[in-house]
Amino acid sequence: MTQPKKLFIKTYGCQMNVYDSERMAEALGGQGYVETPTADDADMILLNTCHIREKAAEKVYSELGRYKRLKADKPDLKIGVAGCVAQAEGREIMRRQPMVDLVVGPQSYHRLPELEARTRAGEKALDTDFPEEDKFEALKNRPKAKRGPTAFLTVQEGCDKFCAFCVVPYTRGVEVSRPPARILEEARNLVDRGVRDITLLGQNVNAYHGAGERGDWSLAQLIWALNDVDGLERIRFTTSHPNDMTDDLIEAHGTCPKLMPYLHLPVQSGSDRILKRMNRQHTAESYLAIIDRLRAVRPDILLSGDFIVGFPEETEADFQATLDLIRTARYGYAYSFKYSTRPGTPAAERDQLPEDVKDDRLQRLQALITEQQKAAQDAMVGQEIGVLFEKPGRLPGQMVGKSDHLHAVHVQGDDIQAGDLRPVRIVESVRNSLKGELIE
Ligand code: SAH
Ligand code: SF4
Ligand code: F3S
Repeated sequence: MTQPKKLFIKTYGCQMNVYDSERMAEALGGQGYVETPTADDADMILLNTCHIREKAAEKVYSELGRYKRLKADKPDLKIGVAGCVAQAEGREIMRRQPMVDLVVGPQSYHRLPELEARTRAGEKALDTDFPEEDKFEALKNRPKAKRGPTAFLTVQEGCDKFCAFCVVPYTRGVEVSRPPARILEEARNLVDRGVRDITLLGQNVNAYHGAGERGDWSLAQLIWALNDVDGLERIRFTTSHPNDMTDDLIEAHGTCPKLMPYLHLPVQSGSDRILKRMNRQHTAESYLAIIDRLRAVRPDILLSGDFIVGFPEETEADFQATLDLIRTARYGYAYSFKYSTRPGTPAAERDQLPEDVKDDRLQRLQALITEQQKAAQDAMVGQEIGVLFEKPGRLPGQMVGKSDHLHAVHVQGDDIQAGDLRPVRIVESVRNSLKGELIE
């Protein structure tokens, strides 16, 4: 028997890249590759990259630098760059980094087997097309191997919104939804393999409109169909845009039993002037109105958000409006970033704010978020909630899982298995996690 070849994939960026990396490993599995956790013994290294901020994109080049020596020792080693940097700068990478053998974009990675074969024949392979065919169908050969209790499932991809700061519409392409029948089939396969918690993914997941037998389905319709999948216990979705928070989706948060009380709803800024300059097409008030409606149907829903500070022309007053919005919205988590100029996006051409102003605002915003995060965690103490256990904790006999609200929860219990969903009473809130006890 021939030795399997070893594949090392390093994933950057968003959850969709995590999902894509799994699909790439499956595609190359057909070529005799098995995954390895280190680059050192790999026959192929794939970097699945992110272009969202300058720092994210730079990581690719520094990581490639580290592989120079590996490649010198092992000339047969193939090095590939996938993901959003590949899409945006693929040709330049090939030119600047002669050791790169393969470049593949987010919409063409189902062609990896052919591309890999070309590199084995000594050629360079580059594919950053946006092909007509459905890559998910091309990759349909679903594995049967057991896997952990949580999974991502891409249902929608791409974006037509063109926020003035963002590269995603250029790297991922136009908004496309997968048909519900194929999503349900993939979900059932995951459940058969041990998955109990699925997070539906899309750059604009709530703009989902997949073609079903009797017309297009909304995301809420898809969630209700998944609610009927036996063995699936929890459903989440990310990332949503405020303008696509439809009535049926808000209502599902109050009525759909498996839909978890958690929503990631980025707003970016609390200043209407800046929101307009960002081309977000909503106001702070319309965003807060959505939150009010969500809390009316599901009072314990935990919200998370994304914020950009130091967008061009942002004044101290604009920034204060963002802090005000955060105080009103009350988040359980939030991700915040200094604005980063991205080549080819409209905001990159505008006058930029000094770095120290951005730093200062980021620190103040993060201090407020940390306070809110702690308050949301502390409020869980004394509550009885479901915990889906994922893996052993650091202490002997300890297991770690996620609550309905996506808090990490540590529990002692020798009889707890990964994949168990058990009722737990929260007894303590510590830094970035909760401690709980099983309710017998
Ligand atoms: N599709 C999602 C996520 C896009 S990227 C959405 O619409 O929200 C994730 C986050 O990165 C964004 O929400 C935004 O906060 C941040 N981001 C995007 N472009 C950025 C840039 N140029 N500089 C800083 N942060 C950025
Ligand atoms: Fe980027 Fe805006 Fe699209 Fe989100 S909605 S992916 S921030 S362009
Ligand atoms: Fe990054 Fe591409 Fe995701 S730019 S955030 S990996 S869609």
